[in-house]
Amino acid sequence: MALAEMLAVVPAGSDEEALLRRIDFARLPRHVAIIMDGNGRWAASRHLPRVEGHRAGIEAVRSAVESSARLGIPVLTLYAFSVENWKRPDTEVSALMGLLKHYLRLELKSLLRNNIRFKAIGRLERLSEDIRIELREAEARTAANTGMLFNIALSYGGRAEIVDAARQLIREGIAAEDVDESAFAARLYTADQPDPDLLIRTSGELRVSNFLLWQIAYAEIWVTDALWPDFRTRHLLEAIVDYQRRERRYGAITAATAGVGKA
Ligand code: FPP
Repeated sequence: MALAEMLAVVPAGSDEEALLRRIDFARLPRHVAIIMDGNGRWAASRHLPRVEGHRAGIEAVRSAVESSARLGIPVLTLYAFSVENWKRPDTEVSALMGLLKHYLRLELKSLLRNNIRFKAIGRLERLSEDIRIELREAEARTAANTGMLFNIALSYGGRAEIVDAARQLIREGIAAEDVDESAFAARLYTADQPDPDLLIRTSGELRVSNFLLWQIAYAEIWVTDALWPDFRTRHLLEAIVDYQRRERRYGAITAATAGVGKA
């Protein structure tokens, strides 16, 4: 049981425990997507090089993955490297790739122990061969896991993903009248996955930054001022509690708004 499993790892009497007790485990988001932002600012505020912010961000990745799996969230997607990030200085790009490689090697055991299935999404062909080997290895070794699906978005762009889906439809020779939303969604990198119910962004920016553009059509957005390296289980629990307080209407009129003239 997710509550018991989580209570076993949070300190008694902590904020985390109080938040956990407010969560309705029957209404968890099916998919949580996170824009990890603020590593550079975290490092700058400590007079450290940017790469130290990314290094510290790995601890937050570990915490988000383990807590989401323990909570029983079916799908977690982390935005680790965007198509735009290729424009950063070579030294920063190679440091990020080095950290990714290190993370994959070190965390594979933990993914296996926690029954987590791993998947990389994005224009992966732009990544170097050694990284692609590590990614394929992690995907293959976790393919039979039945717990949480952990997507890592790498060399990822929402518009690029939509273009790739359109190209795929054309390649398959699908007739124009057969192209509908489900045919399109089935060609996205996230085919067969539920759309994110909850989109989290750190470091206070109010942007979606080309992340899962198609899939976040109805996602609830939760933004925290915390910088990514400071993101911990408490923030994830706060986001879920807030998500569960909101009324989701998908553009429809509900009992609460009917008769008030709002849609
Ligand atoms: C945003 O901070 C963060 C990234 C571009 C990369 C996210 C990477 C990690 C958390 C570490 C690598 C770990 C894995 C598993 C790949 P920013 O650099 O945009 O920060 P800023 O907006 O403050 O400059």
